[in-house]
Amino acid sequence: MSDIKKGLAGVIADETAISKVNPETNSLLYRGYPVQGLAATQSSEAVAYLLWHGELPDEHELAELRTTERRHRALAPEAKAVIDLQPVSAHPMDELRTAVSVLGAIDTAGADNVLDAVGTPEQNLERSIRLFAALPALVAYGQRRRRGLGPIAPRDDLDYAANFLWMTFGEEPDPVVVDAFNRSMILYAEHSFNASTFTARVITSTLSDLYSAVVGAIGALKGPLHGGANEAVLHILKEIGSAENVVPWLDAALAEKRKIMGFGHRVYKRGDSRVPTMKAALDTLIAHYDRPDVAELYGALEREFVERKGIYPNLDYPSGPAYNLIGFDTVTFTPLFVASRVTGWTAHILEQQSSNSLIRPLSAYNGPDERYIPGYRPAAAEFAAADRPEEAAG
Ligand code: COA
Repeated sequence: MSDIKKGLAGVIADETAISKVNPETNSLLYRGYPVQGLAATQSSEAVAYLLWHGELPDEHELAELRTTERRHRALAPEAKAVIDLQPVSAHPMDELRTAVSVLGAIDTAGADNVLDAVGTPEQNLERSIRLFAALPALVAYGQRRRRGLGPIAPRDDLDYAANFLWMTFGEEPDPVVVDAFNRSMILYAEHSFNASTFTARVITSTLSDLYSAVVGAIGALKGPLHGGANEAVLHILKEIGSAENVVPWLDAALAEKRKIMGFGHRVYKRGDSRVPTMKAALDTLIAHYDRPDVAELYGALEREFVERKGIYPNLDYPSGPAYNLIGFDTVTFTPLFVASRVTGWTAHILEQQSSNSLIRPLSAYNGPDERYIPGYRPAAAEFAAADRPEEAAG
C-alpha cells in the first residue's frame, strides 16, 4: 500500500511547543532557545524548568526548583531494595525501569481507581521534579553496585550535575568535568517526537499515569537504534582499539553490512545539531585527562566513515567517549540519557495531558482473508454461503 508510512517516517503526529528540530539548518530549539546556547550558559535545573514551564526561571524560581530537587535526591529505600533484588549483572536500564515503576507504585498508592492515579497537572509537575531529582541516585547506585560499592548520600551544597558525579564517584568533581557533564545532560534533555518520547505520549494518551509513561519510555530508550547507541559506540571504539586500525576495521564492518553506531539519524541527514557542542565538551575532557589517543581514534573513524558513506555522527558519538573519560561504566551511558531525558519526557507527558487525544493508528492487514473454521457452525449467518467453500461445494 502506497500510503503506509513505515516507522511513521515523515508523519506529523501532533503539535508540540517543547522543542523544534530543524534538519535543514541543523538546529534544535528548546522552547525557542538554541540548545547550544543553553548548554553554554544554563544549568541542568534551569533547562528542566524551561522544558516544563516554557520559560527560563528567574533567580527565585530557580532557587525554589533547586530546593525541591535537593529534597528528593536521596536513594529511596524501596528503589534500592528492588535494585538489590536484581542480579548484579542485570542491565542498569532494567534496574532503572523497575525502580521507577516502584517509585510510581508508591506515589500512586491509595488512588481509588486508575483515573485518580493520573493526577492533576500540579501533581504531575511535582512528580516530574521528583523523578528528575531521584534518577541520579538510581543511576549512581547502579554503577557503584556493579563495582561492589554501597550508595553515597547526596550533598546539599552541590548543584544537580556536580552532585550526580559526587554520588557516582564519591569524590569532589573537577569543575571542568562538571561543566562537560552538565552540557551533555542539557543536550540529551529533549528532542521532539523521538521514539521514547512518542512512547511516553502514547501511554499518556490512554490516560495512564506519568510513571507508566516514563517506564515505557525507558524501555524504548534501551534499544541500540535509540538511546542504547551511546553504549554501542564505546564497544565499537574498543573493538577498533586505535586510529591506525580504523581503515581495515571499517572495510570489514561495511563488508558485513554492520551499522556503525553513533552515526546516522532519522531526522538529521547532514549532521546532528548537538554534535559540535558535545564534541567541544569531549575535547575539554580529552585535554583534562590528557588522552590525545581518544581524539585520534574519534577523528579517524569520523573522517573515514563520513567520506565513504556521507553519514554524519549523532550525539551518541561524542558522548560515549566523554562519559568513558569521566569514569562511567559503558552500561551506565544509557541510564545517564534517561536521567537527562526524563525532563523532556515529562514535559511531553504534561503537554499530552493538557490536550489529549488517544494515539491509535491504523494498520494495513496483510494476513489471510477471512476463513472458515472446520467444524464450527456459526449461530447466525456470520458467513455467506459463498465464504464456506466446503459447504458451498457440498
Ligand atoms: N551505519 C551504516 N549504515 C548506516 C548507518 C550507520 N550508522 N545509518 C544509516 N545507514 C545506512 C542504512 O544501512 C541505509 O542504507 P541502505 O539504503 O543501503 O539500506 C541508509 O543509510 C538509510 O538508513 P536507515 O536505517 O533507513 O535510516 P533511518 O532514518 O531509518 O535510521 C538510524 C536512522 C539512527 C536508525 C540509523 O542511522 C542507525 O541505525 N544508526 C546507528 C544507531 C545510532 O547511532 N542510533 C542513535 C540515533 S540518535
